[in-house]
Amino acid sequence: MQIEPLSRHLGAVVTGIDARRPLTPAEVAAIEAGMDRHAVLVLPGQDITDEQQLAFTQNFGPLEEGANSTVRANELRLAPTFADVSNLDKDGSVLARDNKRRMASLGNRLWHSDASFRAIPARYSLLSGRIVTTDAGNTEFADMRAAYDALDTATKAEVEELVCEHSLIYSRQQLGFTEFLPDERVSMKPVLQRLVRTHPVTGRKSLYLSAHIGAIVGWPRPEAMAFVRDLMEHATQAEFVYIHHWTKHDLVIWDNRVTMHRVRRFDDLNTVRDMRRTTTRSDGPTVAQQAA
Ligand code: OGA
Ligand code: MN
Repeated sequence: MQIEPLSRHLGAVVTGIDARRPLTPAEVAAIEAGMDRHAVLVLPGQDITDEQQLAFTQNFGPLEEGANSTVRANELRLAPTFADVSNLDKDGSVLARDNKRRMASLGNRLWHSDASFRAIPARYSLLSGRIVTTDAGNTEFADMRAAYDALDTATKAEVEELVCEHSLIYSRQQLGFTEFLPDERVSMKPVLQRLVRTHPVTGRKSLYLSAHIGAIVGWPRPEAMAFVRDLMEHATQAEFVYIHHWTKHDLVIWDNRVTMHRVRRFDDLNTVRDMRRTTTRSDGPTVAQQAA
């Protein structure tokens, strides 16, 4: 297995691995070590089935399921163990402009960390490019370790103990999407996350930012959101970003604990983009949750 870095802070290409076959413990350890170092790994040429993607993913911990919880079960195109990041409905047609799932998925255009709105958030996301767009629809990744390191001393001290509220309602509201059903409002109740995380293996600190943030505990809301915007702007400077241009059958793995990502705009009403994501869970919450 070879690993070649892709940018100054994050991202590397991995060759010499076949994601269709069971991995040896040494291969799993080598990928995890690569993730700890580079935070994003690109595995080109992985022509995998859904079953192979699931089996490969489970080398890296328990699955984070229910990513499509706002889509009715009979409308799912993929098994519920997948996040369907495509622009297709279950019959394979491109989603209509006013389709509710399309509206919700536009949230992926905002910088975020997957499932930061869950008390136990995501660890790795694995995104398989089955049908890709090449001129647009790039996926961008920001290194939140490098972003943390580059903060001045006063800001590091200020963010150290802060706790944020994350919810899908907040990220969707940013885009003016406010059609939530009463039961969705209950399932999207905000969760608490530390703003500064420490990586369990490397010990490096990182900023835990996401479009899902809607408040900082103990702060007036406008002051909190203005500060979060400043931190977002700081963390997504070009220096900290790797831009992934997709090739069919790329399998891209990112560590949600230390990165943010977003997809760039593409002509999703006239072009097919079939991306399928599997996700693993973190070990536990980043901070104790308030009693409901
Ligand atoms: C995701 C996501 C970005 C993309 O799968 O979590 O945000 O490029 N996808 O589709
Ligand atoms: Mn995402």
